[in-house]
Amino acid sequence: MARKPLMAGNWKMNLNHVEAVGLVQKLAWTLEDKKHDPEKSEVIVLPPYTDLRTVQTLVDGDRLDIGYGAQDVSAFDNGAYTGDISADMLVKLGCRYVVIGHSERRQFHGEDDNIVNAKTQKAVSRGLVPIVCVGEGLEVRQELRHVPETLHQVEGALAGLTPEQVANLVIAYEPVWAIGTGRVATPEDAQEVCGAIRLWIVEQHGGEIADRTRILYGGSVKASSIAALMAEPDIDGCLVGGASLIVEEFAAIARFYEMPVI
Ligand code: 13P
Repeated sequence: MARKPLMAGNWKMNLNHVEAVGLVQKLAWTLEDKKHDPEKSEVIVLPPYTDLRTVQTLVDGDRLDIGYGAQDVSAFDNGAYTGDISADMLVKLGCRYVVIGHSERRQFHGEDDNIVNAKTQKAVSRGLVPIVCVGEGLEVRQELRHVPETLHQVEGALAGLTPEQVANLVIAYEPVWAIGTGRVATPEDAQEVCGAIRLWIVEQHGGEIADRTRILYGGSVKASSIAALMAEPDIDGCLVGGASLIVEEFAAIARFYEMPVI
């Protein structure tokens, strides 16, 4: 079964709602101008919460072929959770996707596998598509424990989900040492872990489910590295940070299928 490649731009804590209009409009124009084929890659942006209403209005009003989602979601339905945003609120804003368990949430907000699992469960229960982030730190990589460590995170994040729910979500392998460092993983390194994640899904839920789950790579992805990453069999797209804030760069990443593999 063919998995449609997904190119997701994680803006992190960048761009206010006015700046968001500029970037999304320019991205839409650039994709159109370059004749991007939406069948060959799905393009989404993941802005800060404060931009979502504006992005919704723009995408709906101009019927843009750009999806969007949030960078986090609460594990709770509603109530006294100051600063949190619920899955229902995101659904109301037209979000289709939500990032869960990004390493920056794990590092700066103490999110562990249990919290990531609770948020993932909540997101799928509301029909959102979680982009569940996993990946090892530098020390673990140097000790060559990156595969078991990452699979342990996947196991924790997806605990209790039905096979169908696993087929419909997205897993993003983002080694922490590659995030924001300019040090992209080699295609072989990224494939090693993405392939191990798919094998884990085969073992847990069978080949038909594993064939449908999209697995992304993230960490210092640029237009110059995208084609070689996408040539790997188990990499179904990328979660892009810094390069997603540069329209020409992100639009080129979206059109990876036209680039030669160097
Ligand atoms: P960079 O592409 O800036 O390394 O960020 C990757 C990332 O964390 C995306 O979620």
